Amino acid sequence: MAELDASRSGTFSIGGDLKVNRLGFGAMRITGKGIWGPPADLEAAKATLRRLPEINVDFVDTAESYGPYVSEELIGAVLAPYSQGTIIATKGGLTRTGPDQWHQLARPEFLRQGVTQSLRRLKLEVIDLWQLHRIESVTPRADQFGAIADMQKKGLIRHVGLSEVSVADIKEAQTYFKVTTVQNMYNLVSRDAEDVLDYCEQNGIGFIPWRPIDGGNLESTSAEFKAIMDTHEASASQIALAWMLKRSPVMLPIPGTGSVKHLEENVAAAAIALGDDEFATLDRIGRKA
Ligand SMILES: NC(=O)c1ccc[n+]([C@@H]2O[C@H](COP(=O)([O-])OP(=O)(O)OC[C@H]3O[C@@H](n4cnc5c(N)ncnc54)[C@H](OP(=O)(O)O)[C@@H]3O)[C@@H](O)[C@H]2O)c1
Repeated sequence: MAELDASRSGTFSIGGDLKVNRLGFGAMRITGKGIWGPPADLEAAKATLRRLPEINVDFVDTAESYGPYVSEELIGAVLAPYSQGTIIATKGGLTRTGPDQWHQLARPEFLRQGVTQSLRRLKLEVIDLWQLHRIESVTPRADQFGAIADMQKKGLIRHVGLSEVSVADIKEAQTYFKVTTVQNMYNLVSRDAEDVLDYCEQNGIGFIPWRPIDGGNLESTSAEFKAIMDTHEASASQIALAWMLKRSPVMLPIPGTGSVKHLEENVAAAAIALGDDEFATLDRIGRKA
Protein backbone atom coordinates (compact mmCIF):
# COMPACT_ATOMS: atom_id res chain seq x y z
CA MET A 1 0.00 0.00 0.00
CA ALA A 2 1.27 3.49 -0.85
CA GLU A 3 2.25 5.87 1.93
CA LEU A 4 -0.83 7.33 3.64
CA ASP A 5 -0.82 11.03 2.88
CA ALA A 6 -3.82 13.17 1.92
CA SER A 7 -1.49 15.69 0.26
CA ARG A 8 -1.11 13.20 -2.59
CA SER A 9 -4.59 14.33 -3.68
CA GLY A 10 -3.19 17.77 -4.56
CA THR A 11 -4.28 21.09 -3.13
CA PHE A 12 -7.05 23.66 -3.63
CA SER A 13 -7.21 27.20 -2.28
CA ILE A 14 -10.63 27.96 -0.81
CA GLY A 15 -11.51 31.56 -1.64
CA GLY A 16 -7.99 31.92 -3.05
CA ASP A 17 -6.38 32.06 0.40
CA LEU A 18 -7.03 28.86 2.39
CA LYS A 19 -4.95 26.04 0.91
CA VAL A 20 -6.15 22.52 1.77
CA ASN A 21 -5.32 19.02 0.61
CA ARG A 22 -8.19 18.07 -1.67
CA LEU A 23 -9.09 14.78 0.02
CA GLY A 24 -10.83 15.82 3.23
CA PHE A 25 -12.96 14.24 5.95
CA GLY A 26 -16.71 14.31 6.58
CA ALA A 27 -17.50 14.43 10.29
CA MET A 28 -21.19 13.51 10.13
CA ARG A 29 -20.44 9.87 10.94
CA ILE A 30 -18.87 10.51 14.36
CA THR A 31 -22.39 10.77 15.81
CA GLY A 32 -25.12 8.30 16.79
CA LYS A 33 -27.68 6.44 14.69
CA GLY A 34 -29.80 8.83 12.63
CA ILE A 35 -26.99 11.42 13.11
CA TRP A 36 -28.41 11.93 16.61
CA GLY A 37 -26.51 11.87 19.90
CA PRO A 38 -23.08 10.37 20.62
CA PRO A 39 -21.48 7.68 18.44
CA ALA A 40 -21.86 4.02 19.42
CA ASP A 41 -18.08 3.78 19.74
CA LEU A 42 -16.87 7.08 21.18
CA GLU A 43 -13.23 5.99 21.49
CA ALA A 44 -13.16 4.92 17.82
CA ALA A 45 -14.60 8.28 16.79
CA LYS A 46 -11.98 10.16 18.81
CA ALA A 47 -9.19 7.97 17.41
CA THR A 48 -10.45 8.72 13.88
CA LEU A 49 -10.20 12.46 14.54
CA ARG A 50 -6.74 12.12 16.13
CA ARG A 51 -5.50 10.25 13.03
CA LEU A 52 -6.43 13.12 10.65
CA PRO A 53 -3.40 15.41 11.19
CA GLU A 54 -1.05 12.41 11.19
CA ILE A 55 -1.99 11.59 7.60
CA ASN A 56 -2.31 15.22 6.44
CA VAL A 57 -6.09 15.44 6.26
CA ASP A 58 -6.43 19.18 6.85
CA PHE A 59 -9.98 19.82 5.57
CA VAL A 60 -12.80 18.71 7.88
CA ASP A 61 -16.49 19.19 7.11
CA THR A 62 -19.05 19.29 9.91
CA ALA A 63 -22.35 21.03 10.83
CA GLU A 64 -24.03 22.26 13.98
CA SER A 65 -26.90 19.87 13.20
CA TYR A 66 -24.71 16.71 13.29
CA GLY A 67 -25.52 15.14 16.63
CA PRO A 68 -26.52 17.93 17.42
CA TYR A 69 -23.96 19.17 18.49
CA VAL A 70 -21.82 16.08 18.94
CA SER A 71 -19.68 16.39 15.81
CA GLU A 72 -18.59 19.97 16.48
CA GLU A 73 -18.06 19.25 20.18
CA LEU A 74 -15.83 16.23 19.45
CA ILE A 75 -13.82 18.16 16.88
CA GLY A 76 -13.29 21.00 19.37
CA ALA A 77 -12.36 18.57 22.16
CA VAL A 78 -10.00 16.37 20.14
CA LEU A 79 -8.45 18.62 17.48
CA ALA A 80 -8.26 22.10 19.08
CA PRO A 81 -5.82 23.78 19.20
CA TYR A 82 -5.69 22.90 15.52
CA SER A 83 -2.57 21.96 13.58
CA GLN A 84 -1.26 24.75 11.37
CA GLY A 85 -3.31 24.97 8.18
CA THR A 86 -6.26 22.84 9.33
CA ILE A 87 -9.56 24.17 8.04
CA ILE A 88 -12.79 23.26 9.84
CA ALA A 89 -15.80 23.94 7.62
CA THR A 90 -19.14 23.95 9.37
CA LYS A 91 -22.77 24.62 8.41
CA GLY A 92 -25.90 26.14 9.83
CA GLY A 93 -29.51 26.47 8.74
CA LEU A 94 -31.01 23.13 9.80
CA THR A 95 -32.68 22.30 13.09
CA ARG A 96 -33.28 18.82 14.54
CA THR A 97 -36.16 17.19 16.41
CA GLY A 98 -34.95 13.58 16.55
CA PRO A 99 -33.00 10.84 14.76
CA ASP A 100 -33.13 11.31 10.98
CA GLN A 101 -35.38 14.37 11.42
CA TRP A 102 -34.06 17.53 9.79
CA HIS A 103 -35.88 20.85 9.31
CA GLN A 104 -34.78 23.90 7.38
CA LEU A 105 -34.54 27.09 9.44
CA ALA A 106 -32.56 30.02 8.11
CA ARG A 107 -34.11 33.01 9.84
CA PRO A 108 -31.34 35.57 10.44
CA GLU A 109 -31.48 35.27 14.24
CA PHE A 110 -31.16 31.45 14.05
CA LEU A 111 -28.21 31.68 11.65
CA ARG A 112 -26.49 34.20 13.93
CA GLN A 113 -27.11 32.05 17.02
CA GLY A 114 -25.74 29.03 15.15
CA VAL A 115 -22.52 30.75 14.10
CA THR A 116 -21.94 32.11 17.60
CA GLN A 117 -22.39 28.67 19.14
CA SER A 118 -20.34 26.87 16.46
CA LEU A 119 -17.46 29.23 17.27
CA ARG A 120 -17.66 28.25 20.94
CA ARG A 121 -17.92 24.49 20.33
CA LEU A 122 -15.13 24.47 17.73
CA LYS A 123 -12.96 26.74 19.94
CA LEU A 124 -12.40 29.16 17.09
CA GLU A 125 -12.41 32.95 16.84
CA VAL A 126 -13.46 32.92 13.21
CA ILE A 127 -15.02 30.18 11.10
CA ASP A 128 -12.84 29.80 8.00
CA LEU A 129 -15.63 28.31 5.89
CA TRP A 130 -19.26 28.54 6.96
CA GLN A 131 -21.88 26.94 4.72
CA LEU A 132 -25.63 27.52 4.52
CA HIS A 133 -26.87 23.93 4.87
CA ARG A 134 -29.99 24.64 2.80
CA ILE A 135 -31.52 27.76 1.29
CA GLU A 136 -34.76 27.82 3.25
CA SER A 137 -38.08 28.23 1.43
CA VAL A 138 -40.06 30.38 3.92
CA THR A 139 -37.60 33.06 5.03
CA PRO A 140 -36.99 35.59 2.22
CA ARG A 141 -33.69 34.90 0.48
CA ALA A 142 -32.66 38.52 0.95
CA ASP A 143 -32.91 38.02 4.72
CA GLN A 144 -30.89 34.76 4.69
CA PHE A 145 -28.19 36.02 2.36
CA GLY A 146 -28.14 39.46 4.00
CA ALA A 147 -27.56 37.92 7.46
CA ILE A 148 -24.66 35.85 6.09
CA ALA A 149 -23.07 38.88 4.41
CA ASP A 150 -23.42 40.75 7.70
CA MET A 151 -21.69 37.97 9.69
CA GLN A 152 -18.88 37.97 7.16
CA LYS A 153 -18.54 41.75 7.44
CA LYS A 154 -18.38 41.43 11.24
CA GLY A 155 -15.52 38.90 10.92
CA LEU A 156 -17.36 35.90 12.39
CA ILE A 157 -16.93 33.91 9.18
CA ARG A 158 -14.13 34.19 6.63
CA HIS A 159 -15.58 32.40 3.60
CA VAL A 160 -19.11 31.35 2.67
CA GLY A 161 -20.31 28.16 1.03
CA LEU A 162 -23.72 26.85 -0.06
CA SER A 163 -25.19 23.35 -0.06
CA GLU A 164 -27.66 21.61 -2.40
CA VAL A 165 -27.99 24.51 -4.80
CA SER A 166 -28.46 25.14 -8.52
CA VAL A 167 -26.32 27.38 -10.71
CA ALA A 168 -29.09 30.03 -10.51
CA ASP A 169 -28.98 29.87 -6.68
CA ILE A 170 -25.21 30.41 -6.71
CA LYS A 171 -25.53 33.39 -9.04
CA GLU A 172 -28.24 34.95 -6.84
CA ALA A 173 -26.18 34.45 -3.66
CA GLN A 174 -23.12 35.94 -5.38
CA THR A 175 -24.91 39.30 -5.41
CA TYR A 176 -24.69 39.31 -1.58
CA PHE A 177 -21.33 37.60 -0.93
CA LYS A 178 -18.61 35.66 -2.73
CA VAL A 179 -19.54 31.96 -2.88
CA THR A 180 -16.28 30.06 -2.33
CA THR A 181 -17.58 26.47 -2.10
CA VAL A 182 -20.64 24.46 -3.07
CA GLN A 183 -21.56 21.18 -1.39
CA ASN A 184 -23.98 19.01 -3.40
CA MET A 185 -24.56 15.27 -3.47
CA TYR A 186 -22.26 13.77 -6.10
CA ASN A 187 -20.43 10.53 -6.64
CA LEU A 188 -19.55 8.09 -9.42
CA VAL A 189 -23.15 6.85 -9.66
CA SER A 190 -25.06 10.04 -8.60
CA ARG A 191 -24.35 12.65 -11.22
CA ASP A 192 -27.25 15.13 -11.06
CA ALA A 193 -24.89 17.95 -10.07
CA GLU A 194 -22.69 17.80 -13.20
CA ASP A 195 -23.79 21.27 -14.37
CA VAL A 196 -23.11 22.77 -10.93
CA LEU A 197 -19.68 21.11 -10.83
CA ASP A 198 -18.85 22.53 -14.27
CA TYR A 199 -19.93 26.01 -13.14
CA CYS A 200 -17.78 25.70 -10.01
CA GLU A 201 -14.76 24.63 -12.06
CA GLN A 202 -15.21 27.53 -14.48
CA ASN A 203 -15.43 30.00 -11.59
CA GLY A 204 -12.77 28.65 -9.20
CA ILE A 205 -15.40 27.61 -6.63
CA GLY A 206 -14.53 24.54 -4.53
CA PHE A 207 -16.97 21.68 -5.14
CA ILE A 208 -17.49 19.45 -2.08
CA PRO A 209 -19.33 16.27 -3.12
CA TRP A 210 -21.29 14.84 -0.21
CA ARG A 211 -21.89 11.10 -0.06
CA PRO A 212 -18.73 10.69 -2.18
CA ILE A 213 -18.54 6.90 -1.74
CA ASP A 214 -22.31 6.44 -1.97
CA GLY A 215 -22.59 5.71 1.74
CA GLY A 216 -20.00 2.91 1.54
CA ASN A 217 -22.27 0.90 -0.79
CA LEU A 218 -20.21 0.98 -3.97
CA GLU A 219 -19.35 -2.37 -5.51
CA SER A 220 -17.86 -3.40 -8.82
CA THR A 221 -20.85 -3.59 -11.11
CA SER A 222 -19.07 -5.01 -14.15
CA ALA A 223 -16.01 -6.91 -15.28
CA GLU A 224 -14.54 -3.62 -16.56
CA PHE A 225 -14.88 -2.00 -13.12
CA LYS A 226 -13.42 -5.11 -11.45
CA ALA A 227 -10.44 -5.04 -13.82
CA ILE A 228 -9.63 -1.45 -12.82
CA MET A 229 -9.93 -2.39 -9.13
CA ASP A 230 -7.56 -5.32 -9.67
CA THR A 231 -5.02 -3.20 -11.58
CA HIS A 232 -4.78 -0.77 -8.65
CA GLU A 233 -5.38 -3.40 -5.92
CA ALA A 234 -8.12 -1.09 -4.67
CA SER A 235 -11.72 -1.29 -3.46
CA ALA A 236 -14.66 0.17 -5.39
CA SER A 237 -14.81 3.11 -2.93
CA GLN A 238 -11.14 3.87 -3.42
CA ILE A 239 -11.50 3.78 -7.21
CA ALA A 240 -14.55 6.06 -6.96
CA LEU A 241 -12.58 8.58 -4.87
CA ALA A 242 -9.66 8.48 -7.32
CA TRP A 243 -12.12 9.02 -10.18
CA MET A 244 -13.61 12.07 -8.45
CA LEU A 245 -10.19 13.59 -7.75
CA LYS A 246 -9.36 13.24 -11.46
CA ARG A 247 -12.78 14.56 -12.55
CA SER A 248 -12.02 18.16 -11.55
CA PRO A 249 -9.26 20.21 -9.88
CA VAL A 250 -11.93 21.94 -7.73
CA MET A 251 -13.21 18.62 -6.33
CA LEU A 252 -12.88 18.28 -2.53
CA PRO A 253 -14.29 14.86 -1.51
CA ILE A 254 -15.16 14.41 2.18
CA PRO A 255 -15.73 10.68 2.80
CA GLY A 256 -17.29 10.18 6.24
CA THR A 257 -16.41 7.53 8.79
CA GLY A 258 -16.09 6.86 12.49
CA SER A 259 -13.37 4.25 12.02
CA VAL A 260 -9.59 4.62 11.65
CA LYS A 261 -9.49 1.62 9.32
CA HIS A 262 -12.00 3.15 6.90
CA LEU A 263 -10.34 6.58 7.16
CA GLU A 264 -7.01 5.06 6.17
CA GLU A 265 -8.60 3.15 3.28
CA ASN A 266 -10.18 6.36 2.01
CA VAL A 267 -7.01 8.43 2.29
CA ALA A 268 -5.02 5.72 0.50
CA ALA A 269 -7.15 6.57 -2.57
CA ALA A 270 -5.21 9.84 -2.87
CA ALA A 271 -2.25 7.83 -4.19
CA ILE A 272 -4.22 6.09 -6.98
CA ALA A 273 -3.48 7.61 -10.39
CA LEU A 274 -6.09 6.48 -12.92
CA GLY A 275 -5.21 6.50 -16.59
CA ASP A 276 -7.33 8.49 -19.04
CA ASP A 277 -8.87 5.30 -20.46
CA GLU A 278 -9.75 4.06 -16.98
CA PHE A 279 -11.29 7.43 -16.17
CA ALA A 280 -13.44 7.30 -19.32
CA THR A 281 -14.54 3.72 -18.64
CA LEU A 282 -15.58 4.57 -15.07
CA ASP A 283 -17.37 7.69 -16.30
CA ARG A 284 -19.44 5.57 -18.68
CA ILE A 285 -20.15 2.88 -16.06
CA GLY A 286 -21.14 5.51 -13.48
CA ARG A 287 -23.51 7.35 -15.82
CA LYS A 288 -25.23 4.08 -16.75
CA ALA A 289 -25.68 3.17 -13.06
N1 LIG B 1 -24.49 19.06 2.72
C1 LIG B 1 -25.28 18.06 3.00
O1 LIG B 1 -26.51 18.16 2.90
C2 LIG B 1 -24.68 16.76 3.44
C3 LIG B 1 -25.47 15.60 3.53
C4 LIG B 1 -24.87 14.41 3.94
C5 LIG B 1 -23.50 14.41 4.24
N2 LIG B 1 -22.77 15.55 4.18
C6 LIG B 1 -21.31 15.56 4.48
O2 LIG B 1 -20.68 14.66 3.58
C7 LIG B 1 -19.90 13.72 4.30
C8 LIG B 1 -19.88 12.41 3.53
O3 LIG B 1 -21.19 11.92 3.32
P1 LIG B 1 -21.69 10.58 4.00
O4 LIG B 1 -20.92 10.36 5.26
O5 LIG B 1 -23.16 10.65 4.08
O6 LIG B 1 -21.41 9.49 2.89
P2 LIG B 1 -20.11 8.70 2.37
O7 LIG B 1 -18.86 9.39 2.77
O8 LIG B 1 -20.33 8.41 0.95
O9 LIG B 1 -20.24 7.30 3.16
C9 LIG B 1 -20.11 7.20 4.54
C10 LIG B 1 -20.57 5.82 4.97
O10 LIG B 1 -19.71 4.85 4.39
C11 LIG B 1 -19.05 4.08 5.40
N3 LIG B 1 -17.63 4.04 5.00
C12 LIG B 1 -16.71 5.04 5.02
N4 LIG B 1 -15.53 4.62 4.57
C13 LIG B 1 -15.68 3.31 4.25
C14 LIG B 1 -14.81 2.34 3.73
N5 LIG B 1 -13.53 2.63 3.44
N6 LIG B 1 -15.30 1.08 3.53
C15 LIG B 1 -16.59 0.78 3.81
N7 LIG B 1 -17.49 1.67 4.33
C16 LIG B 1 -17.03 2.93 4.54
C17 LIG B 1 -19.25 4.82 6.70
O11 LIG B 1 -19.41 3.93 7.77
P3 LIG B 1 -18.29 3.77 8.93
O12 LIG B 1 -18.48 4.92 9.86
O13 LIG B 1 -18.63 2.45 9.51
O14 LIG B 1 -16.97 3.78 8.26
C18 LIG B 1 -20.53 5.60 6.46
O15 LIG B 1 -21.66 4.85 6.83
C19 LIG B 1 -20.60 13.65 5.66
O16 LIG B 1 -19.74 13.08 6.64
C20 LIG B 1 -20.94 15.09 5.88
O17 LIG B 1 -19.80 15.81 6.36
C21 LIG B 1 -23.35 16.71 3.77
